[in-house]
Amino acid sequence: MYLKNGQASLWWQEAAIYQIYPRSFQDLNGDGEGDLPGVISRLSYLKELGVDAIWLSPFYTSPNKDGGYDVSNPRDVDPRFGDMSDAVSLIEEAHKVGLRVIVDIVPNHFSTEHIWFKAALDSEPGSKERARFHFFDGRGEDGAIPPNNWCSIFGGPAWSRVTDSDGQPGQWYLHLFDSTQADLNWTNEEVHKDFEETLRFWLDKGVDGFRIDVAHGLVKDEILQDHRDPEGLTRALRLDVSDMPREQRESLLSDVPFFDRDGVHEIYRNWRKIFDSYPGDRMSVAEAWVHPSSRATLYVRPDELHQIFNFDFLIAEWDAKFLANAVEKTLQEVAAVSAPPTWVLSNHDSPRLVSRMGGGELGEKKARAIALLTHALPGGVYVFQGEELGLPDAPLSDADRQDPVFFRTKGVDKGRDGARVPLPWNSEQNNFGFTSGKPWLPIPANWIDKSVEAQKMLNEENRLSFLRLYQKSLQLRKLFADSNFNWLIRSNEVIGFSRGSEYAIYSNTSGEELQVSLPETFDSFEVMICSAPQEQLGRSGEGTLQLPPHSTTWVKRLK
Ligand code: NOJ
Repeated sequence: MYLKNGQASLWWQEAAIYQIYPRSFQDLNGDGEGDLPGVISRLSYLKELGVDAIWLSPFYTSPNKDGGYDVSNPRDVDPRFGDMSDAVSLIEEAHKVGLRVIVDIVPNHFSTEHIWFKAALDSEPGSKERARFHFFDGRGEDGAIPPNNWCSIFGGPAWSRVTDSDGQPGQWYLHLFDSTQADLNWTNEEVHKDFEETLRFWLDKGVDGFRIDVAHGLVKDEILQDHRDPEGLTRALRLDVSDMPREQRESLLSDVPFFDRDGVHEIYRNWRKIFDSYPGDRMSVAEAWVHPSSRATLYVRPDELHQIFNFDFLIAEWDAKFLANAVEKTLQEVAAVSAPPTWVLSNHDSPRLVSRMGGGELGEKKARAIALLTHALPGGVYVFQGEELGLPDAPLSDADRQDPVFFRTKGVDKGRDGARVPLPWNSEQNNFGFTSGKPWLPIPANWIDKSVEAQKMLNEENRLSFLRLYQKSLQLRKLFADSNFNWLIRSNEVIGFSRGSEYAIYSNTSGEELQVSLPETFDSFEVMICSAPQEQLGRSGEGTLQLPPHSTTWVKRLK
């Protein structure tokens, strides 16, 4: 295990990393979309929140067909977000206040607006320009059938056909996501060179790390073979599996011809050499949904990447058994490679935490409790902007939606826009202080009491606001960073563990108040923080602790 009691770890091993979705964070130029100067203007907020680093979703040049994950120039800034000098200032200003900066890198695909793709369209089949992507002739007499039957993860086919210069239908290219996101061919040396240049470009600018988009997708096998159940596979990959038998799902996910192929690791071994050649502890985190989850550890072997997102909590239920199993499994898995675990409760691709926990007051209660549990676990935690405000998914009309998932599934899947609505900063100004213009997605009028300002003004004698709860726990967790983890209790309703010899953490996932006995050494203790209102803590003391319904409590041993 990487944890050695009391021994200082590298900065990222126990870091709280805050995900900024720049488009929805803070707009300063009044165009209705957030920008990099906006992020700079809120660095003090992030510092006060107690996070150690920020991860910025893409701000690179992009036609913005998939929220900037369709990159047309990875070494420049999209004018919607500012310019290169803003990016450099952001890195410098963040460093000045002690925040590290992680940027996104999107190696699975380029936008079809990238010069490489345009050159490919202008070139012949078989040319070196086309060899950077996956171009193939279609099947059937006139080539009208795609090269294989794979489906796009966003819905519809994974292939689109180009039109040749003579106006005739031509070859097909692969896109696992939107048709504007052409998959790159990682058997091509130029692709390797280009991404290495991009890594160095941003490392030279001073970034502390990279979040690697679709890290498990770069290598494709059996690219000209039909899959036995392409629709089933896509549903399994999108977790749309409520009516799919478990065995079918397992069998589909255990061998995906375009994800988690063994060849991908060679790429990361090369990248690791680049990271290590720079001063400071530069890091990388893989976004890779792999199956079975034990395969995640392959990405964080000592000569590969530093972290991989652990998505167990992103789909977790508020259930003691479920959570304890997820924690135990994760800790065991990472122990094998000496990598620290990570914990993710929400991101820009998933429903917001409060909504996933059922919404309303009960959803909020559970969200607060699971957040406090997560912040007490060993390893790194990722916080998606707005999670600290307890924002739910925003209701949107279909006319507002922009996610390609919505369009490609013909509205069957509403997409991810609900979690991407701009942040409410204050209550008085127009648009909650997000923009002086028209926000790119409407902010619900009833978010007034959820704004940063409103939460800061709340009388917190009895109940901490979401924001205050996050602030406090993100600060307090530093007390036991690098401390050992030991289980204290794993029952149907209660999960409890200690961090070092001084701290104990208990979650009660039931709707009833419960009581637990603390370890003997905790005869005398104090409650550090509780996700439930103070008054519900009841009579705790003399070695026993009252656990309010749906709550997490941290205690500290006295003496
Ligand atoms: C994962 C990103 O988080 C998501 O937003 C994006 O749509 C896909 N990768 C494709 O780049």
